[in-house]
Amino acid sequence: MAKTAVVTGAGSGIGRAVAQALLRDGYRVALAGRRADALEETADGSPDALVGPTDVSDEDSVAALFGTVRERWGRLDLLVNNAGISAGGTVADLSVEDWKRTVDVNLTGMFLCAREAVRLMRDQEPRGGRIVNNGSISAHAPRPASVAYTATKHAVTGLTRSISLDGRAWNVACGQIDIGNAATEMTERMAAGIPQADGRILAEPTFDVRHVADAVLYMAGLPLDANVQFLTITATTMPFIGRG
Ligand SMILES: NC(=O)c1ccc[n+]([C@@H]2O[C@H](COP(=O)([O-])OP(=O)(O)OC[C@H]3O[C@@H](n4cnc5c(N)ncnc54)[C@H](OP(=O)(O)O)[C@@H]3O)[C@@H](O)[C@H]2O)c1
Repeated sequence: MAKTAVVTGAGSGIGRAVAQALLRDGYRVALAGRRADALEETADGSPDALVGPTDVSDEDSVAALFGTVRERWGRLDLLVNNAGISAGGTVADLSVEDWKRTVDVNLTGMFLCAREAVRLMRDQEPRGGRIVNNGSISAHAPRPASVAYTATKHAVTGLTRSISLDGRAWNVACGQIDIGNAATEMTERMAAGIPQADGRILAEPTFDVRHVADAVLYMAGLPLDANVQFLTITATTMPFIGRG
């Protein structure tokens, strides 16, 4: 039987590339995101795609998405917890609204989706499944003026570790992919120049998002008794590795 997956943030960028790679690989894929038209574009008429407009920060909306998956397919093998936003601002100037909005999507949204996924995976026969959380190299080190994004991405690492440990009881594996500079809308500004730690503005290299999709497909394809706990993939020459 075909494996089933939920991909959040599937209407653009990494989520779209991962969802389309999973569809090509024979998965049935529920596409989640707020914009239905963008999800339809990702689905591109595939009979194996389920367009599920969802706000991941809203508990009822997330429950409805996973309820539809349970009704339609009866099981869930994979959650790719990908939806995320980036609000710029330093600790001195970020508004509490932007802080809360970032926490709501990047952290609470991932928790809500993981909770529904784990419940489905726990209750199904055969039991279990896999969750891949999309962290970031901002889960390791901040860019200037990114306090909310960096804090939430560090928190995603804690979420991944906790799900990995708790998930053992139900045969749920959990891993995290930490990406640096895949070419998407979020990273378009890299080409124009972006602030560096030493105050300079520098253009940064990006890499093709399909390599992220290939990496997620590899993580997803492992048997449940093996797990990639953390995988870091970056543009090779971006200024992440290195120090003065
Ligand atoms: N590109 C990179 O190099 C890079 C590096 C590190 C980490 N990441 C992470 O990768 C993930 C995807 O980023 P991307 O580069 O592909 O950027 P993107 O194209 O902006 O994708 C973000 C996606 O999240 C969805 N989203 C935002 N708020 C949502 C909400 N409340 N509910 C449901 N979906 C929501 C958006 O769809 P709607 O607006 O339709 O809801 C959009 O499809 C993010 O978690 C980001 O932090 C990316």
